Amino acid sequence: QIGKLADQINYSAYIIGGIVRDLIIGRTNEDIDIVVEGNGIDFANLLAENLGGTVRCHEKFATATWKHPSRLKIDITSARTEYYDYPAALPNVEMSSLKEDLFRRDFTINAMAIQINEDHFGKLIDYFHGFNDIKQNKIKVLYNLSFVEDPTRILRAVRFEQRFNFKMDQQTFDLAMISADKIASTSKPRIAHELSILLKEKHPVESLVRLGEIGIIRYLIGTHSFNVQKLKTFKSLVDEIVPLQQNQNSETWVCYLVILFSETENEIELVKDYCLNNESLKVTDQIVELLDDNQNFLKEDTLGAIHHSLKNYQTESIICYIALMQLQECFANKLKKYLQNRTQIPKLIDGNDLLNLNIEKGPLFAKILLEIECAYLNQEIHSKEDAISKV
Ligand code: CTP
Repeated sequence: QIGKLADQINYSAYIIGGIVRDLIIGRTNEDIDIVVEGNGIDFANLLAENLGGTVRCHEKFATATWKHPSRLKIDITSARTEYYDYPAALPNVEMSSLKEDLFRRDFTINAMAIQINEDHFGKLIDYFHGFNDIKQNKIKVLYNLSFVEDPTRILRAVRFEQRFNFKMDQQTFDLAMISADKIASTSKPRIAHELSILLKEKHPVESLVRLGEIGIIRYLIGTHSFNVQKLKTFKSLVDEIVPLQQNQNSETWVCYLVILFSETENEIELVKDYCLNNESLKVTDQIVELLDDNQNFLKEDTLGAIHHSLKNYQTESIICYIALMQLQECFANKLKKYLQNRTQIPKLIDGNDLLNLNIEKGPLFAKILLEIECAYLNQEIHSKEDAISKV
């Protein structure tokens, strides 16, 4: 349908970038990017008029996002933004603009398009042999200055290596090494965006080791060396404990940075430059607090007593603390058991129950509810009746 609408206004239209790569690899991808040789905003409006949904325009870049009622979201860009200057552009000029668009991208595997106009539906546009590189599991830049122009692409190269089990070819690896220092002058939020995606993928430790091999870690954290064992301990605790949590929107990725920065004269505060939201800031602050704490909670015998000290700490903050301190097994096991049991605390009573017991609303509420949770963790109570009689 989208291709037919493009035909109506004589636009060539293509799906492009990551989705083409993933179609070839056989992986799902819900981010659909379309490039038209024409005006992207006009085309998005045409789609909305004919197929419904809404359009959000980014006039400056002549791009638009079309949201279909089915919640499908498609980004539409123009292969040449100055298209209007050349209303009678010849087809070959148009083609070269698509080629230019593809050439400006990061890697050959991301620089393919598939035409969706009816007559050419499914035609693969592959000027730079991305298809072959996929078949050979290769990550390859399109031009020598690619990493210099955008050093975050080094992080992307490692992400695709780990995600697909691909490898940079020698030339790309060498270019990454000699461009690594450029990351030092890249904005922290841009680095953080790519790092967060990289560290949320399946192999964060391997990715960091690879970044170490490239030599870019030094320009990110100020030192060459880092303790892989601490990273591994953290990852295995994450795998063991985070899946048990109900709320899995955890900020584990930022903990890898905390572990790295802790190697550099304990400048964990520097991690805050990379925190993209309040949640990651909170986790970083909590880890600093735990490290500064007198750590009496380690001496506690009961889970209830530990809960008194650690109830407000996120799971990932506590796990990171265990890894950073390389805690002895008995202490680590105690905290692990606490975290595991904490995920299973039921809400035995709530505020209404306390009101029914003629307790006045106020700070006492939170205190009582905490005591009930601690008593549950200590297996002193098991049911709502137990909780009410304890109150
Ligand atoms: N791109 C690029 N350089 C960057 C970021 C992106 O050239 N620094 C290009 C790539 O061609 C990429 C496209 O923009 O395919 C879209 O970027 P993005 O959505 O970040 O990447 P995907 O390849 O779609 O990766 P993912 O599957 O992780 O979404």
